[in-house]
Amino acid sequence: MAVPSIFFGISVLHILVLGAAAGGGFPQWNSNDAVARRARAGDAGTPLRTQSSIAVSADGERWVLFNASPDLRQQINQRRQLQPGADAPLRASPIAAVVLTNADVDHVAGLLNLRESQALAIYGHDRVLDVLARNSIFNVLNPDYVARRPMPVDTVLALKDGHDQSLGLRVRAFPVPGKVALWLEDKNAPDFGTAEGDTLGVEIFDEKGASFFYIPACARMTPELADRLRGAALVFFDGTLWHDDEMIQAGVGTKTGRRMGHMSCSGEDGSIAAFSKLGVRRKIFIHINNTNPLFVANSPERAEAEAAGWQVADDGMEISL
Ligand code: MLT
Ligand code: MN
Repeated sequence: MAVPSIFFGISVLHILVLGAAAGGGFPQWNSNDAVARRARAGDAGTPLRTQSSIAVSADGERWVLFNASPDLRQQINQRRQLQPGADAPLRASPIAAVVLTNADVDHVAGLLNLRESQALAIYGHDRVLDVLARNSIFNVLNPDYVARRPMPVDTVLALKDGHDQSLGLRVRAFPVPGKVALWLEDKNAPDFGTAEGDTLGVEIFDEKGASFFYIPACARMTPELADRLRGAALVFFDGTLWHDDEMIQAGVGTKTGRRMGHMSCSGEDGSIAAFSKLGVRRKIFIHINNTNPLFVANSPERAEAEAAGWQVADDGMEISL
């Protein structure tokens, strides 16, 4: 059993990467390119990755999910931290809350795995909570037990479980450039109907004030975002595509990263360049698309990212801050 670090007067942020891949996972179900074939064959240089999510805990016992991936059931079965302990009641879970950063299918569909009558709190911007409210299938999370709580931007919020008990974590959500979820796009509206709150980054704090950032989708580095991130201890950042047009070049899609609301890792206006002078101590790409060569351990692109001080998230990666 994990020893709650608060007993020693030192609070620690326990971070567990549940899934490193973008929507579709790696490989995506219908991918049949050489890298997908290597991954399915069990090649150690191309491990399988589930869809984008991290879990965070202040005490090593109660966990908050940041986004709920469609692979959540598999992620729970793979990570002992998310499984009920031997002494727990017959229906129990260490998952106490879920924070949603957008309404992408890879970030909300996993809520359906948390069905039934288990106390839980779901935090999201009103734009995202409205999406859940409009779709009654999310009532499989019994509304008598599952609280849905607004997460306004630029406000420090103390996270609490479904019984209103403190989880020892605070979040501050902030808008980043992005786009409304693909499945909610309005083709007749400017910018597909995107509004503030559709794409959030979050800063996650423990009670002593240590913090890190989780930004799985971001279309652009703005001066405000650069100021916010400068000198951060740790940033998980959108690693969807290496090149803006890599899906087109590979012949597997028609969209650029820009069209999808994601800035690329490489290039003059890419994230590696954008972070180069920010002094962030640890930088980790997450939400990585199945076409991104970062998923290939010995690729030149992985070497380039690592030389610039970046890591590529792996399912199961554990970090303590
Ligand atoms: C995205 O990150 O752009 C979306 O998750 C795309 C999708 O819906 O697959
Ligand atoms: Mn996504």
